Amino acid sequence: MLTMNVDEILFEGMWDIMNGVTLNSYIVRGEKTAIIDGVIGWDGVPETLYKNLEEIGVDPRSIDYLIVNHMEPDHSGWISNFRKIKDDFVIICTDKAAKMVSSFYGEDKVRIVKEGDTLDLGKGKVLSFHPVPNVHWPDTMYTYETGTKTLFSCDMFGAFGRMEEHCFDDELTPEEQDFFESEGIRYYSNVMGTFTASVKKAIEKAKTLDIKTIAPGHGPVYRENPQKIIDDYARFTRYAEGAGKNEITILWGSMYGMTAKALGHAEKVLKREGIRYSKLEAARAGDSEIVASVFRAAAIIIAAPTYEYKLFPPVAAALSEAGRKRITGKAAFRFGSYGWSGGAENELKEIIERNRMNWDFIESVEFEGVPKEEDLARVESGILRLIEKMKEKAE
Ligand SMILES: Cc1cc2nc3c(=O)[nH]c(=O)nc-3n(C[C@H](O)[C@H](O)[C@H](O)COP(=O)(O)O)c2cc1C
Ligand SMILES: [Fe+2]
Ligand SMILES: [Fe+2]
Repeated sequence: MLTMNVDEILFEGMWDIMNGVTLNSYIVRGEKTAIIDGVIGWDGVPETLYKNLEEIGVDPRSIDYLIVNHMEPDHSGWISNFRKIKDDFVIICTDKAAKMVSSFYGEDKVRIVKEGDTLDLGKGKVLSFHPVPNVHWPDTMYTYETGTKTLFSCDMFGAFGRMEEHCFDDELTPEEQDFFESEGIRYYSNVMGTFTASVKKAIEKAKTLDIKTIAPGHGPVYRENPQKIIDDYARFTRYAEGAGKNEITILWGSMYGMTAKALGHAEKVLKREGIRYSKLEAARAGDSEIVASVFRAAAIIIAAPTYEYKLFPPVAAALSEAGRKRITGKAAFRFGSYGWSGGAENELKEIIERNRMNWDFIESVEFEGVPKEEDLARVESGILRLIEKMKEKAE
């Protein structure tokens, strides 16, 4: 296996992944040689792949088959580069990927596979193919090596996060395990969140295979306990639908400190009650962080004022992004200041309805100008009710 760290990119052109991501490629060798998943096609990444291959004693020109589990260019971008050094290889992929391999790279030496099709590489190495559509592209499939019972799962069971010298689950320190759990949540929420229904089907398909190792396209390889990442992903599907950790995420914004004052009181209450929370100022936080934090928490506090008859724009944008990622069913509570007639509340409702988020709201608290004692008391009682709901939803 080859693991390459990629930093300083915007993943999918938009996610600022401050902890990097790995691109994993796998070689399966019988009499014939196959490479499963590849790498991005620019900035010298294919050359690094060739160098790494040579280090493990594989001449790139000896590769017979490119298994394209998923056509997204983070895995397939190097195909055109590879074509320059070798002409007689065959791409193996689903029919949907074949169409894209042709439209993106002009490739037509393709063998299309369907559920259960196999490829015998010789010397007992047999690959079988299992489409798992819409995680997160329509073309995606699993490749399974029958002898070693290895599932090459591509984006499924993946995580963000750069890798140190080791890549197997049994080699990770407890800190690294926590790191990849957290980066797994970030990855799931950013990349897979919209496709939770399909992820559930892919989990069911994985259960039909006898798996000893899970080897994803990003993140650690699970050879000691593949069940762990299956269980984690199952849990993440529940986070997408309203469960979450026993913690609160606060999305906030405040122009002149009126809403911030009420937020200060809210934090005092959370501390007094011993509740874990993270606080994101929507105007400063990146989308990756916002989506991941909203996704992971069982309850959300929205602290934002009215701005031009609507919800404070950075907070509105953050909530819309969570909605686009289909983060549904969270317990939530909003409070905020207004100057004359308000309007934030209407837009909040609009965002929640438009995205069919179905969040379970405690009645909002709005106050004119600076929050008074009675406003702070209403905020406090809202928070206490939110904590109750959080505890019901947490896992
Ligand atoms: C640019 C701007 C636009 C505003 N638009 C509205 C508005 O449409 N309706 C309203 O009731 N208040 C409006 N306000 C008033 C704020 O909601 C009010 O000042 C509130 O106290 C701000 O709370 P903050 O200090 O937490 O940002 C606006 C204020 C600013 C600076
Ligand atoms: Fe992908
Ligand atoms: Fe990927």
